[in-house]
Formats: sequence, C-alpha cells, structure tokens
Amino acid sequence: MIRLEHITKTFGSLIANNDISLDIKKSEIHALLGENGAGKSTLMSILFGLYQADSGNIYINDELVMIKNPNDANRLGIGMVHQHFKLVETFTVLENIILGKEDTKYGFLSLIEARKKVEEICETYHLHLDLDEKIKNLTVAAQQRVEIVKMLYRNAEILIFDEPTAVLAPQEIDELMKILKNFAQSGKTIVLITHKLNEIKMVADRCSILKRGVLIKTVDVDKTTTKEMAEMMVGRQINFEYDIPKQKTGKSVLVVEDLVYQVKNEKALVNHVNFEVKSGEILGIAGIDGNGQTQLVEMITGLRTATSGKILLNDKDITKSEIRKRSADGMSHIPENRQKHGLVLDFNLAYNLVLQNYYKEPFQKHGFLDKKAIYDYSDVLIEKFDIRSADGKFSSARSMSGGNQQKAIIAREVDKPHNLMVAVQPTRGLDIGATIYVHQQLINERNNGQAVLLVSLELDEILDLSDRILVIYEGKFVGEFEKDKATAEELGLYMAGIKEGLTHAK
Ligand SMILES: Nc1ncnc2c1ncn2[C@@H]1O[C@H](COP(=O)(O)OP(=O)(O)OP(=O)(O)O)[C@@H](O)[C@H]1O
Ligand SMILES: [Mg+2]
Repeated sequence: MIRLEHITKTFGSLIANNDISLDIKKSEIHALLGENGAGKSTLMSILFGLYQADSGNIYINDELVMIKNPNDANRLGIGMVHQHFKLVETFTVLENIILGKEDTKYGFLSLIEARKKVEEICETYHLHLDLDEKIKNLTVAAQQRVEIVKMLYRNAEILIFDEPTAVLAPQEIDELMKILKNFAQSGKTIVLITHKLNEIKMVADRCSILKRGVLIKTVDVDKTTTKEMAEMMVGRQINFEYDIPKQKTGKSVLVVEDLVYQVKNEKALVNHVNFEVKSGEILGIAGIDGNGQTQLVEMITGLRTATSGKILLNDKDITKSEIRKRSADGMSHIPENRQKHGLVLDFNLAYNLVLQNYYKEPFQKHGFLDKKAIYDYSDVLIEKFDIRSADGKFSSARSMSGGNQQKAIIAREVDKPHNLMVAVQPTRGLDIGATIYVHQQLINERNNGQAVLLVSLELDEILDLSDRILVIYEGKFVGEFEKDKATAEELGLYMAGIKEGLTHAK
C-alpha cells in the first residue's frame, strides 16, 4: 500500500530521518516504535505532507506520489491523528470536524448533512462526543476523539495514529484497539505510533523500530516478545521493577478541606473533597477521565478558582493565591496539558527551564535577565535530564519532540525548590526508558521527603508508584487503598462507580 524509499529529513544539523526505507501492507496494522525523538512523528508527517523529505520517494499502490501538503495527502486517502491536536479551541466539535470540508448552501454554512454523517461515525465506532460543545471545554481525551472522527469524516483509507492512546483511559484504550482492528478488517491500512508495547502486542501485525532516525528493524509482532522490542528500541537491557523502600511519612504538606467546584445550577464537578498528602508519600488519584480530577488539580495548582472549601500548603491557606505564590511557597507542577500550561512554545528550551524562577537571582539582576546565568543553568539541566533536541538550549520548545518537551518540564519542576510535587499524567507520551526515568524521579522525590500527588489515568502507573490510592468517581472519592492492597480489577470497579465505600476517609 505504502512504500517509503530512502527517506531522509534533516532539521539543521540534526538528522531526524536517516535513509529510511519501509513498506506497509494493505490492511495491516503497522506499529512504529522508538524512543522520544527517534523520528516517528517526522516520518509520518512527511507521509502526511506536513514536511517535505530532503530526499527519498513515496509510493502509494506502486505509484510514485508527491505529497506537498495535507490536502494532497487527503486526496490520496491518507489521514492522520496528530500527537498534538490541531483543533480550533473556540470552535465547536462539529465545526472542527468539518473544517476545510464544509458544505455551503447559498453561501451559508450548512451543517445538517455533516451533522448526520458525524453522528453516524460516532455511533458506529462508539466515539462519544457532544457535537455542539466548544473544544476548549473538552477534556484531552475527548479532544482526541474529535481528531479521530475528523479523520474518519474524510474517508481516509490510510490512517496514521500518532500516539492515540497516550491520553485515553484504560476502557477507552480497549475500545480504540477494537476500532483499529475493525478498520483493518474493513480494508483500511493503519500506522500506529505508540510507546505502549502491550498495545502493539494486542493489535499490530508488524512493528518497525526506529532509533535516532535510523530504521533498526521491522519485526513480526507474533514472533517477538515485548521485552525484545523494547531492548531493540533502547539498545540495552531494561528493568521494569521499582524498588520503593518502606518509610514513615512526615507532616502534612498539602491539605484539602471540603473543596467544591461547581458552576451555578450545574452538578458539582468536585463535590466536597477532603484529603491530605504527607511528606514522604506518593498519593495516587485514580479515576476515569472526566470524573473531576482535572478540576481538582486545577484548583490546587491555581489554574481554576475553587467554588468553596480550603487548600492549605505547608499550613498556609493558598485557596485564593496566585500561581506564582503557590510556586514560591513550595509547589511544583507537571501539568496535564504540557503545551498549554507547561511551556511557552515559542521560547527556547533554556528560557522554558527558568519559567518558575527567572525573576529571582541569579537569573535576574537589577531588573535585567542574566542570559549567561540562564544558559549555564540550562546546560546543567539538559545534561542531567538528558533532554534531546536539534539545537540544544536554543531549540524552540515547539520544535522539540513530545517526550522531550515533557522532560524539560519535569527537569524544571524537579530542580526548583519545592516540597510538594503535583504530577498529572507525568509520563504521557514518554518512551519506556524515559518513563522509568520519570518514575524514578518521583520515587526519589518521595524518598527525599517531598509530598507527591500523582494523578494519572494509567492504572499501572498509579499501582506501581503510590503509597496510597484514592479513587475519584463523579467528583467524589469512593475508595481508598494502602499500597499493595488493591488490584487493577478491584480499582476498576470503583473507577466505574460499581463499588463504593470509603473506609477511612479523612
Ligand atoms: N520542526 C522541527 N524543527 C526542528 N527540529 C525538529 C522539528 N521537528 C522535529 N524535530 C526534531 O527531530 C527529532 C525527531 O522528532 P520527532 O518528533 O519525529 O520524534 P518522535 O520519534 O515522534 O518522538 P516522541 O516519541 O517524543 O514523539 C527530534 O530531535 C526533534 O527535536
Ligand atoms: Mg512523536
């Protein structure tokens, strides 16, 4: 179906794709695996016409094609769900889906036909969406669904998914995997970029492994273990087990009392929540996306104003504090939406690394930024956290690969003075090596006496790291578990609201 021949793409001195030749068969699910920055998104962006290869050819059905832009790609039946969504925040779901493919009547936008078609797609593939909601009000997972429907709406035959499950809840992932299989069975050809080896095992026929721009190998998924794939990808042996020593917790660092978030006349999204996080523990909040965890964290970190209740950080009431004050008072934050709340995309990496303390010495002196101090400091963090990008500290955050953007945020937040770390989906989109690294950072935080609040849709992450787990359902905590007292199945029942019973809620 697709043949890539000798594709090379450079950004400045960096070779993002180095002489890659790869064929993808009709109606197969072909996985692309590789570390952050290996060149997966670049390669697929070339196929989708977002980038032009410096050299090399693309054949579709044995025919040489020129794909100069996404419209060319669309005409050739190629669709792509991007790693970072390309949606218009102020438009509705429906408007986003049809954008560029609008029907008009007498010069006016006609949505009736489009709405019907979109509703059919949503129903066929169980993709739940409120078509009239604005994108900016949607959870990240719902935005992902919009991207998928947008592609299906264009009748694409070759579907490229760039880390589609990074933002989905376990149930949604299962659903999507079924959808992918259906697509393949109905003759569509699928490229699936993912860092999750179990997904590759579940659905993919073949898997191509990239490392630093080079295609290492294409393997049959049936005949290769996940461990083998992982090791080909990172080029060394890896260990998935963590050693988390037992330790006593210290004082309460974060205390949340009777916290509520409610829009007038609507159901409370966070409904009288109480909990605390102590020094030296990782408290995990598990829950299916959309159960209030986003609003809860946003109130704690200052992105959203609480309706009522109290938030104490190191015994100080911060319920109404501005964000900078919370940061100065000891809060670090790895936000859910890294591009929107974690980075200034058009600043370079070095400047992004001092966003929390550029106004303090040594980065600021006599009202001026000290560039040398900023760049020297960034050298240290880039080295220590192994942040990779084309132009090092001078790279714009926008140009960095998703995983490396996340590493930059983590570097900044871990390194600044703090005793509370609020980590929301901290390993979303990270490769296996980087995931283990971030987990180790959070464990170190805990071992060093920091309080860690971990919010994640990934149950394995919660189970692996948390000393204590709270399950949130419809804005309330419905279950609390000590380490090793909960199985994934049991947590799942609480997360789905089937079981309830908070034994010792505080
Ligand atoms: N527009 C750009 N300008 C400069 N460098 C870029 C650009 N796009 C990508 N790069 C660089 O090319 C390399 C490959 O990036 P790419 O996004 O393809 O990686 P990836 O395999 O998709 O990684 P991830 O798993 O983190 O998404 C990275 O080093 C990245 O910084
Ligand atoms: Mg990518």
